[in-house]
Amino acid sequence: MKTEIFEIKSSDDEKIQIAGKALREGKLVAIPTETVYGLAANALDEKAVRSIFAAKGRPSDNPLIVHISRLEQWDFLVEKIDERAKLLAEKFWPGPLTIILKKSDVVPEATSGGLKTVAVRMPSHPIARAIIEASGVPLAAPSANTSGKPSPTTAKHVEKDLFGKIDYIVNGGDCSVGVESTVITLATEKPTLLRPGGITPEMLEGVLGEIEISDSVFNKLSEDSEAASPGMKYQHYSPKAKIVIVKADEERYCSFLSEVADEKTVALCFEEDKEKLSFVKTVVYGKEKDSFSQASSLFDSLRQVDEVGAEIAYARFPEMSGVGLAVFNRLIRAAAFNIIEV
Ligand code: TXA
Ligand code: MG
Repeated sequence: MKTEIFEIKSSDDEKIQIAGKALREGKLVAIPTETVYGLAANALDEKAVRSIFAAKGRPSDNPLIVHISRLEQWDFLVEKIDERAKLLAEKFWPGPLTIILKKSDVVPEATSGGLKTVAVRMPSHPIARAIIEASGVPLAAPSANTSGKPSPTTAKHVEKDLFGKIDYIVNGGDCSVGVESTVITLATEKPTLLRPGGITPEMLEGVLGEIEISDSVFNKLSEDSEAASPGMKYQHYSPKAKIVIVKADEERYCSFLSEVADEKTVALCFEEDKEKLSFVKTVVYGKEKDSFSQASSLFDSLRQVDEVGAEIAYARFPEMSGVGLAVFNRLIRAAAFNIIEV
């Protein structure tokens, strides 16, 4: 398949209409959002949605998030928007929050992965919103990576994984948040956080009161478990190199590396650590006390680990509060839950 790549710098660019028309016709278009790049197709077109799964190599029981640009579209996709959902949308949309409710009949099973619920998000990225508007339909869009690889935060990442497999890649620059949206379900009795992201548990509790945090946020789910969030049971964010998370302060981390490092080792470290690690290759993922910087560079750094030819990467343990919970959640999956204390 021929993949066309074009750059769009603003939401009034004429090329937005080309992307919108392609989506209306059932084609696959990778689009920038504030979190990560998404691989979009018409969420109501079962055939188009199936081609998303094929291009990514994604298991068909892993449901997709439906992206909207106006609140009226939400009404149509779900059975009922309750008071809690309204409050969340008012406070956090447009933005990096996905809300799960019971689905209406218009949402095909292919989109919901066979579930009776649907995940909906209104992104804040102006180009994403303009493309949804131009298409005139809600857009199903998982992260635009090959299933299992780190999510894409640049158009180049998308090109590496999906060139030749999709119709268009819209290059709208680098994604600012860098980790995927927070996913919360309101289809359970108590609101439950299924995936941490840019909207933190504290922010959600500020609106809803106490929420549950799903076990899958911290722990590995078995392949056969009835996961509330099916995506959490699959292997994720994995470079070819093995990732090991090292729980230690800077001093112990550096001295551990000085004992184990060889030419196939990378230190996946913070900016501040770099100068103390001159004896080993380093890939930086953000600053030590700045979870936002860690979130925005994590996926690119995981890809870099392979680019520098590492076989093993020892990662600094991130702070787990605020957006750091999302960083931790992605990193433990990239590391297949391999954490050591030194
Ligand atoms: O930031 C994001 O959310 C990005 C951008 C493109 O918007 N999209 C994204 O999609 O991360 P994806 O498909 O890579 O992740 C969606 C996650 C998966 O873990 C999936 O299992 C979960 O949301 N999910 C979707 N629909 C669900 C549902 N009805 N019930 C439970 N989990 C659901
Ligand atoms: Mg994904």
